[in-house]
Order: sequence, then structure tokens, then C-alpha cells
Amino acid sequence: MAGLRLGILISGRGSNLRALIDSCNAPGYPAEIALVIANRSGAEGLKYAAAAGIPTQVIDHTAFPDRAGFDNALDRALRQARVQLVCLAGFMRLLTPGFVEAWRDALVNIHPSLLPSFRGLHSHRQALAAGVRITGCTVHYVRAETDTGPIVAQAAVPVLAGDDEDSLALRVLGAEHRCYPEAVRLIAQGRVRLERERVFIDEPASPAAILINPPPTPADL
Ligand code: GRF
Repeated sequence: MAGLRLGILISGRGSNLRALIDSCNAPGYPAEIALVIANRSGAEGLKYAAAAGIPTQVIDHTAFPDRAGFDNALDRALRQARVQLVCLAGFMRLLTPGFVEAWRDALVNIHPSLLPSFRGLHSHRQALAAGVRITGCTVHYVRAETDTGPIVAQAAVPVLAGDDEDSLALRVLGAEHRCYPEAVRLIAQGRVRLERERVFIDEPASPAAILINPPPTPADL
């Protein structure tokens, strides 16, 4: 339980946070969670963090007159905890360009689509409306424009005939829980190289580094 110090930002359920907590507890995982911050005191994910003995903070965005003030408070808390990589995990606040720039290449997000398709809200609704047969999730470095930035890892899942937004979201979520810890592992191992806004993974001989695309389990189907 030592390694790259993660700061996880959440707003709600926290199932991706849970997946990261489980990974960080696994022997040999190269990262540890230094701090979990929620912008809502009711964020369910806070409970998992507390139960795992991880320091938590609530920084309520409504207590700040503007986005910059809120982001400054986030920045202070993360630096105080000596965070090295910030992971957005269902964090529902837009970050200011100043914050994104200050944490450039040390700030990642998970988005429930295969970017660059279906950015923004309601990505599953967008996927169903477009009639795609495959969707998935993406872990990417964060840039000022929402849901853009160099892609670290993606996982694909099928869209099935009877799917609605909920069933599709659930299947994608299963992939998210495998994809996010794998992406963080690659970063923590120092194997992720950014060159001209593209990610290159060192040691491409490892299948995990080429494509993170876990086969669907029976539960996914
Ligand atoms: C996930 O689908 C994530 O991709 C998106 O918000 C959702 C958060 O879920 N950014 P959870 O809070 O991790 O359960």
C-alpha cells in the first residue's frame, strides 16, 4: 500500500472510487489513495473511503463565490496531502482552466463512452440514439475542453438489442471498474509517456499495454 499518491475527486455513488480502493489494497499495486474529496457531504462514496481508513474531505462548492475559489481550495487540499495524481471519478463539477493547467499531465478522468464519441452528459443515451453496436469507457488526461485529452486506456462493451440507458450504463460500469485501476497502474509504473498529446505505453509487448479490452463476463451479458 505505497506508491504514487492519488487524490480522488467524487460527487456521488463512488463505485469507481471503490474499484480504486480495492486495487490499492491489493499486494504490489503501485499506488495509494492519499485523499478523497467530495463536493457534496452526501456523496455515498465518502463512506467507502472512511471505512477503508482513507482521509476524506468535503469541499462544498456552494460555499464559494466562484469556480476559481472552489478550485483553489481543491488545489490546496491536494497539495497538502502531497497528491501526485488526481483522479476524477464521477466528479460533477467543471474545473477551471487554471486548475487543469496547474495539474496538467497529473489529472485523469474516466468517461463512460469510447471518446471522442459521446462527450458530455448522457453518453449512454447518445450511444443508443446513434445505434452503435459497441461502446465503452475511456480513461484520459484532462484538458480544458470537457472530455478531451490524451487517451490512456479504453475498454469496449457490446450494446445489446434490448438495452436501455440503465442496462447499458451497468455493463459499461463493469468495464470502468477494470479499466480505471489498470490505467492508474500503468501511470504509477511510469510506463505512460505523453508525446504531442498522444499517450505511448512503454513495453508494448505486454498485452495489457496494447489494449485494455477485457472480455465480457457472463454477468456483463
Ligand atoms: C461513471 O460512469 C463515470 O464514468 C462517470 O460518472 C460515473 C460515476 O460513477 N464520469 P461512480 O460514482 O464512480 O459510481
